Amino acid sequence: MSDKRVLTGITTSGSPHLGNYVGAIRPAVRASLEPGVQSFYFLADYHALIKVGEPARIQRSTLEIAATWLAAGLNPDKVVFYRQSDIPEIPELTWLLTCLTGKGLLNRAHAYKAQVDKNLGSGHDADAEVTAGLFMYPVLMAADILMFKAHRVPVGRDQIQHIEMARDIAASFNHLYGELLVLPEAQVEASVATLPGLDGRKMSKSYDNTMALFAPREVLRKQIAGLITDSRAPGEAKSTEGSALFDIYQAFASEAQTQAMREAFAQGISWGEAKNQLFDCLDAEIAPMRASYETLMAHPQRLEEILQAGAHKARLLATPYMAQLRSSVGLRPLQQATAQTSKAATKVVLPQVKQYKDKDGLFYVKLVDWQGRLLLQSLGFEHPREAALLVDGLQHGDTEALKLHAHRLVPVEPALQPALEHALKTLRLPKIA
Ligand code: TRP
Repeated sequence: MSDKRVLTGITTSGSPHLGNYVGAIRPAVRASLEPGVQSFYFLADYHALIKVGEPARIQRSTLEIAATWLAAGLNPDKVVFYRQSDIPEIPELTWLLTCLTGKGLLNRAHAYKAQVDKNLGSGHDADAEVTAGLFMYPVLMAADILMFKAHRVPVGRDQIQHIEMARDIAASFNHLYGELLVLPEAQVEASVATLPGLDGRKMSKSYDNTMALFAPREVLRKQIAGLITDSRAPGEAKSTEGSALFDIYQAFASEAQTQAMREAFAQGISWGEAKNQLFDCLDAEIAPMRASYETLMAHPQRLEEILQAGAHKARLLATPYMAQLRSSVGLRPLQQATAQTSKAATKVVLPQVKQYKDKDGLFYVKLVDWQGRLLLQSLGFEHPREAALLVDGLQHGDTEALKLHAHRLVPVEPALQPALEHALKTLRLPKIA
């Protein structure tokens, strides 16, 4: 599997709005069509539990978001599309990572710090309303990413720190247990605009200024009518700079349409007319998707089946990988423990004695230590039998054999003498089966 793996999660804590569509869903669906990319998209419902304590809302949001992604063109046969809580390996990996994540690292997480600052600012206890879930958020997110060996993680700027933490955590794991985890990179689309909301600030649930993506047409029309503008009258030239209306239009229009709207602004198009054009432009893109969204929403069983199929695909990767990770940290069958330790020891610690035939037709012997340093090099032997005797001696760490062959050996560099002695001693140790 040489493809680049791209993974991203969507927290199931609300209803998808236009800002989500332009900033995340649309670019992700487009990226999933690129060749040479293996994409993973998942519904981060464990993350949603951190913020939402209403079971019905969690379920409703999961349904809406799943339907939205599919309606927006995500092809579940081509990508791995699943629900986080269907993958028990994710919380399992979370614990392994928790045990090597510094508390100090988590103290620096923006979301946690913001809550603490807010508390202190309002004279409350620093940890008021801070759950351990909020504190652990970055570790769960690291597990999401590392579980599927993602190379790239497309996210908004606010999430970059989380990806960096996932890298740090992965590096700690690899340092302790071997290079098993892939270090991910954040991918922030410079070209993807953040959409302004109804009040002109960034469209966001937390500002309560969002426009629903799949609201009925008439609701969309009303929302557009309520979009904030300035008080310039029809006929007066209008500025595109800082105009939420223009920015939203641009996110959906072709370049030619955008250019035409820019000119219309300069020529004093009325806000009412500009809003009509914005509605037409949005609805042209949204209407077909809205139809399939409504069909999917009416068939939750169908969505559930798609998610189960996705979970099955995801677990085909996660289950064996998790077994490997468990074993690497020492959670493994008892009979396996000794075997694995000795295998690692042979591979890593033992020096290697090698015999080879060179271009000159002669047979040579060399001793290389576990770091790949050449400790001993013989001159050429005419007969393989002679070389084999030296090999045998070295493999037993036999210093007598060395003395015997001294005249056939390249003198050892003094700096490597201690390493050679250590290597011979290692070779003399009783071998573990
Ligand atoms: N924290 C992300 C957000 O709020 C959602 C998320 C959860 C995520 N796990 C992830 C994103 C893993 C990317 C990769 O937007």
